[in-house]
Amino acid sequence: MNLILLGAPGAGKGTQSEKISERYGIPAIATGDILRKAIQEGTEMGKAAKSYMDAGRLVPDEVVIGIIRDYLASDACRNGFILDGFPRSIPQAEALDAMGIRIDVVLSLEVPDEKIVERMSGRRVCSCGASYHVTYKPPKTEGVCDKCGAALYIRDDDAEETVRRRLATFHAQTEPLKEYYSSRGLLLTVQGQEEVADTTALVLGALRRFEA
Ligand code: AP5
Repeated sequence: MNLILLGAPGAGKGTQSEKISERYGIPAIATGDILRKAIQEGTEMGKAAKSYMDAGRLVPDEVVIGIIRDYLASDACRNGFILDGFPRSIPQAEALDAMGIRIDVVLSLEVPDEKIVERMSGRRVCSCGASYHVTYKPPKTEGVCDKCGAALYIRDDDAEETVRRRLATFHAQTEPLKEYYSSRGLLLTVQGQEEVADTTALVLGALRRFEA
């Protein structure tokens, strides 16, 4: 299954892509995680991306398109993949088409803006990639990662002002992708629920019909 996950910042793409990845045994490629790792490692790509991410803007297309091209060409993606956070603009979607990559389904997670702001204020993350929420997905021990035991922290771009800018970027540049994929008969919409498990049930239920 070759799947794109669409959704506003904080809609739950990362949370659900983990569940889809477990269910179908396919890798999730999260451009945001790849860029944050590059920033942590101090690479040239990370240095170039940081100011855009801190400002709640999109990183230039050529940077993320290059990342995706490399990942999709790897053996790990032979039996399918989940794109979490790519494409995020019409030019990125066109670049994906130009790579000749077949997409089976584009799943859009729908969550109202005000709910997003509330969710982001409670998000806690770990440098190992794990993500939690103080209310909706708390770790077993407060402030400590269940997976690796490291201290959890708040992402730089989760400050409310930056979240609102990311939402504006989403509505202006990413939301038009719904029409782009709907006109190709690929769009599936799922309403994000209050509980993570309820959203997962809807997502996995909706994907069942695409199973081979
Ligand atoms: P990225 O890291 O991709 O951020 P994002 O899309 O803004 O999404 P998030 O990771 O913030 O949220 P999510 O939807 O994965 O939600 P999560 O599951 O964590 O990108 C960051 C930046 O990188 C961008 O702003 C941009 O600058 C750059 N970038 C990345 N890709 C790019 C591209 N293609 N082009 C250009 N630039 C790019 O959930 C959020 C919280 O809610 C968590 O705490 C979770 O526990 C909780 N939660 C989840 N589901 C539920 C639920 N159902 N009920 C209650 N709580 C829930």
